[in-house]
Amino acid sequence: MNVKGNTVLITGGATGIGLALVKEFVETGNEVIICSRRMNKLDEAKKLFPSIHTRQFDLALPVHREALYNWIKTDFPKLNILINNAGIQRAIDFRKGIETIMTIDNEIAINLEAPVQLCAYFIPLLLTQKEAAIINITSGLGFIPSVAMPVYSATKAALHSFSITLRRQLKDTSIKVFEIIPPMVDTDLDKGERKKRGQTYFGITPEQTAQESFEAFQKDEYEFAVGEAKNFQAGAKQNFEEHFDRMNKFFK
Ligand SMILES: NC(=O)c1ccc[n+]([C@@H]2O[C@H](COP(=O)([O-])OP(=O)(O)OC[C@H]3O[C@@H](n4cnc5c(N)ncnc54)[C@H](OP(=O)(O)O)[C@@H]3O)[C@@H](O)[C@H]2O)c1
Repeated sequence: MNVKGNTVLITGGATGIGLALVKEFVETGNEVIICSRRMNKLDEAKKLFPSIHTRQFDLALPVHREALYNWIKTDFPKLNILINNAGIQRAIDFRKGIETIMTIDNEIAINLEAPVQLCAYFIPLLLTQKEAAIINITSGLGFIPSVAMPVYSATKAALHSFSITLRRQLKDTSIKVFEIIPPMVDTDLDKGERKKRGQTYFGITPEQTAQESFEAFQKDEYEFAVGEAKNFQAGAKQNFEEHFDRMNKFFK
């Protein structure tokens, strides 16, 4: 993938891995647009990178996904890279019953429904560009799930599966489909819980994650596991290709 001269939308781009990706794309000469819920974080990101475009959207809400698409289509019709990065992570104990999942933040809506729906909105626009890409940020936990974070792990496994099928559907088009699989990264994602569990190691830096991902984009490494996540990916993949090809042999 050419990493210069693109117009890039990074969801959840005001913090963590998203913000580190903003830095890579801005410094390499790309027009960057980000969105998320907290205005103060968007403003802080804009201060760091004055050329970026920011707007508040809550991607848990279908109407906001549609509004995001309409804004981009009108104001940035050259958009050619969509990065589905926004996400949340929750520890959920199903032995405690229904209350346990009745939280305001809905992992399924943010981590899975939003990327799937944004792909559906943006693919017709991306197909009009000479070169385009969709980049989904999954997780090592999508390959080897965490019992403490069952819904999170399931959303990332589902997004991994979706990335494979989308890549196959789009293989004869201008759109390349990438999946970045981070290991544990030291961001605000679930940091409170990690501290409560007594963790002292919080993972690699978001900057390292973004730098290695950026190299993978340039080499067209479509499914790229960062650092320790490589072990998760390999462990879950024995004979996968053979099964996948057999399962999908009638797909045209
Ligand atoms: N950190 C890790 O260990 C790790 C490991 C593997 C994968 N990942 C994945 O990497 C991605 C980025 O996470 P991160 O670690 O960089 O954590 P982060 O700093 O918390 O970033 C997540 C971003 O998503 C945004 N977001 C959350 N809910 C949203 C919503 N409803 N609408 C719009 N934006 C929303 C957040 O902003 P607002 O709260 O302001 O909306 C935040 O900027 C996530 O998909 C995560 O699952 C992280």
